[in-house]
Amino acid sequence: MCGIVGYVGRVEDDGALDVVMEGLARLEYRGYDSAGVALVTGDHTSTRKKSGKLANLRAELEADPLPPSTTGIGHTRWATHGGPTDENAHPHRGGADGKLALIHNGIIENFHSLKGSLLNRGTVFTSETDTEVVAHLLAAAYEQHGELTDAMRAVVADLEGAFTLLAIHADQPGVVVGARRNSPLVVGLGDGANYLGSDVAAFIGHTRQALELDQDQIVTITADSVTVTGFDGSPAEGRAFEVTWDAAAAEKGGYTTFMEKEIHDQPHAVADTLLGRTDADGRLTLDEMDITEQQLQQIDRIIVVACGTAAYAGLVAKYAIERWTRIPVEVALAHEFRYCDPIVDDRTLVVSISQSGETMDTLMAVKHARLLGALTISVCNTHGSTIPRESDAVLYTHAGPEIAVASTKAFLAQITACYVLGLYLAQLRGGSFADDAQAVMKQLGEVPDKIETLLGRMDRVKEIAGFMADTRSVLFLGRHVGYPVAMEGALKLKELAYIHAEGFAAGELKHGPIALIEPGQPVFVIVPSPSSEHGLHGKVVSNIQEIRARGARTIVIAEEGDEAVEPFADEVIRVPVTAPLLAPLLTVVPLQVFALWLSTAKGLDVDQPRNLAKSVTVE
Ligand code: G6P
Repeated sequence: MCGIVGYVGRVEDDGALDVVMEGLARLEYRGYDSAGVALVTGDHTSTRKKSGKLANLRAELEADPLPPSTTGIGHTRWATHGGPTDENAHPHRGGADGKLALIHNGIIENFHSLKGSLLNRGTVFTSETDTEVVAHLLAAAYEQHGELTDAMRAVVADLEGAFTLLAIHADQPGVVVGARRNSPLVVGLGDGANYLGSDVAAFIGHTRQALELDQDQIVTITADSVTVTGFDGSPAEGRAFEVTWDAAAAEKGGYTTFMEKEIHDQPHAVADTLLGRTDADGRLTLDEMDITEQQLQQIDRIIVVACGTAAYAGLVAKYAIERWTRIPVEVALAHEFRYCDPIVDDRTLVVSISQSGETMDTLMAVKHARLLGALTISVCNTHGSTIPRESDAVLYTHAGPEIAVASTKAFLAQITACYVLGLYLAQLRGGSFADDAQAVMKQLGEVPDKIETLLGRMDRVKEIAGFMADTRSVLFLGRHVGYPVAMEGALKLKELAYIHAEGFAAGELKHGPIALIEPGQPVFVIVPSPSSEHGLHGKVVSNIQEIRARGARTIVIAEEGDEAVEPFADEVIRVPVTAPLLAPLLTVVPLQVFALWLSTAKGLDVDQPRNLAKSVTVE
């Protein structure tokens, strides 16, 4: 949350504003309450900032252009302290001379007491933000130290909380200084130019060479150098990596919205996440796994920690991993995990799932788990992000950049990665299922084509969404792995269409939720495959009859050839046949498509829904 960009080019390269604005456009998904830029221009810094989306800042810059510059910073905000006004937008100035400008992502937890001291000294504030406090402190420290990196080091020593800070000072043109604690910041390494960004999307249009930073580090960039030091001044080095996708992957590719494009990326997201997971003998290998096989053989419990859509991926994973490994799996919302005094030891494997790798709640859960002695594996989509760095091992999903705030392809890739992890553990531990792992991998390998087929049939779903623009409530029912899918379908609708939506376990219906059914109430039902065990299919078909009898309008997602649902369905959406445990990779797709087109029918912003941010880097 909050997107941050920094840039320094050589003297002849004075297009800092364009580079910063391009970076902000790619990071806008991180927050879109306001946006602003600051450039070093002569003996002072010049800023423009505007509440609302980046388009407002663009208009402001057209009306009141900025001079050329080699050095700039930019910010797109998700408001925490102070409403989304022009005054509260970043950058913030410090000191009376207008020479220093600062941007910030995160929360300064002790800002009240710091602000109190500044007020006592007569400092005048122009915003309600915690950031402005740091800007004034930094300006004062600059007066004292005469150098921006040293000033930054002095200031961060007094800050509590999570933050990424970027600063420029007119007396040091050609320099941007960044600092990070528990908040994202990566460096882009160019030729005669260097970049800073909340993630690599900020500079992907210019370079794919990047540098990961550790926590509690300060980075100073010029056009030709990158210097990393610890908060304590100790010399440090970032870890270099190459971004595996290019700028085109972060663009809409002919679709109207990123979400639509990302829904259509899903066959690739699943296929790429499966790539390279088997050796020549067809046995599963996980080469990114730094935990020893012996350690994994000894685990007796798995806890998945995640938030939002990623937590629903975890719930799907629970069914599969328990089935294949017979290890008990618990799924905890990351923000609850830390505070429930979790029972964890060195035989517990904590699997975190996070697209961004930066979700603060998930990061804190991982840190807490490690403190308690657990083994930690991160299932993550973002190289260079924090959660993988803080974990013992990583299983990367290869979904490519996900820009739309509502997660789609990352969800499918997360489920896929969790299946791979489950199969790997099954094989390693040699239980009764171990020999079947290869067969399941083969079934998984067939899923991308099935998603493609399914995507080709979504016209009717789009039509249904179009008719339902006035709908005020939608319910989703599922059972077994269909239950988390139902909850994900409801979440998508809340996020995108701002209507009441709830997902229930179909078996729970008669214990309360059935009272919600009244004539015309739309209900999506995710029907298990007729090949599911324990007669689940028949039980859900009975549930459809029960709600239909009470007037519900039933939109049924059922496997091809499942004729039993026909008499009770107002609409049937057919998904290709697959193994029951793998079905979520298909059944969720119509629900994503429905939310996309319902939001569109209501005239809402699909990619940037209100109040949300993609990467939630505050607790
Ligand atoms: C936010 C987003 C959700 C996402 C969740 C977890 O709430 O709006 O789409 O599922 O964060 O994000 P993560 O990056 O950890 O997967």
